[in-house]
Amino acid sequence: MDNNQKKPRVFSGIQPTGGFTLGNYIGALRNWDKLQDECDCIYCVVDLHSITIRREPAALRRAVRESAAMLLACGVDPARSILFVQGDVSAHAELSWLLSCYTQFGELSRMTQFKDKSLKHPENVNAGLFTYPVLMAADILLYDTDLVPIGSDQKQHLELCRDVAGRFNGIYGDVFRIPEGYFPKVGGRVMSLQDPSSKMSKSDENDNAKIMLTDAPDAIIRKFKRAITDSGSEVRAAEDKPGIVNLMSIYSALTGKTFPEIEREFEGKGYGDFKLAVGESVVDALAPIQSEYNRIVNDKAYLNDVLSEGAQRAGAIANRVLHRVRRKIGLE
Ligand code: TRP
Repeated sequence: MDNNQKKPRVFSGIQPTGGFTLGNYIGALRNWDKLQDECDCIYCVVDLHSITIRREPAALRRAVRESAAMLLACGVDPARSILFVQGDVSAHAELSWLLSCYTQFGELSRMTQFKDKSLKHPENVNAGLFTYPVLMAADILLYDTDLVPIGSDQKQHLELCRDVAGRFNGIYGDVFRIPEGYFPKVGGRVMSLQDPSSKMSKSDENDNAKIMLTDAPDAIIRKFKRAITDSGSEVRAAEDKPGIVNLMSIYSALTGKTFPEIEREFEGKGYGDFKLAVGESVVDALAPIQSEYNRIVNDKAYLNDVLSEGAQRAGAIANRVLHRVRRKIGLE
């Protein structure tokens, strides 16, 4: 390996809320695994971000451990990457405050996620919900990150991060590396099985709309059998067949088959056969993940070791950057 050629630094985070869906896996976690070959990856369970909504303490603690276990089961490899819990590294909260003094009220007010969430939960529009993107900027900037794998819903937050970092650099010189987004190609967006016009979401109240990574095989097959399809009976990628296209995307992502190959495979067969095949491809893909997950989530000592080592390694990097920032501002 050429030591002068430093690998790009990747940072990404995921909230520990209510388990992960097939959409999280295909759109994000599968890529987290792949990126480890080419990049220097740091992956974070963002517990601090998740408390903008009230959480039961025991449930939050459990969700953080289960999320970390699932990331490991999906291939995050602590021998090659850093996996840690955001709240274990206090530099995140500290840099978030510092950056908030370089972020305008007006630009945070324009964040569409803030507007959506405050409309949805008018009873709890807390300041954390408002400054959420600043904490996310701190997460990213603390690691001199080059690439940030995110879904398109987080694009605006990344733009804000780049703006704030650029503004800070404009005042103090080259302090922060300006990160780029990394958007997965096809298969990036898995839609609801009950409404192909909206994204598959872990918070969907309709259990049939989503596949959770921990779903049992019979539940997975049942949900695919019930998936909303379109009129007609041909398995074909057409604009008026969003339900079929969604199922084709899932099947393609998991089997590596192209759309024309899938159309040929199911020529002369009905939706029923196709849905069963998609369900089976999902069951097959999730089987090894589920067995790894069950092993890891029950191995408390191993999980503790991984997360405490992760926090130590992340903290060492983050604290160097934090000191750099504190010196520039005049706090040291
Ligand atoms: N806000 C992101 C989401 O909801 C999660 C997140 C927090 C994140 N910090 C991050 C993603 C830093 C990438 C980088 O999906």
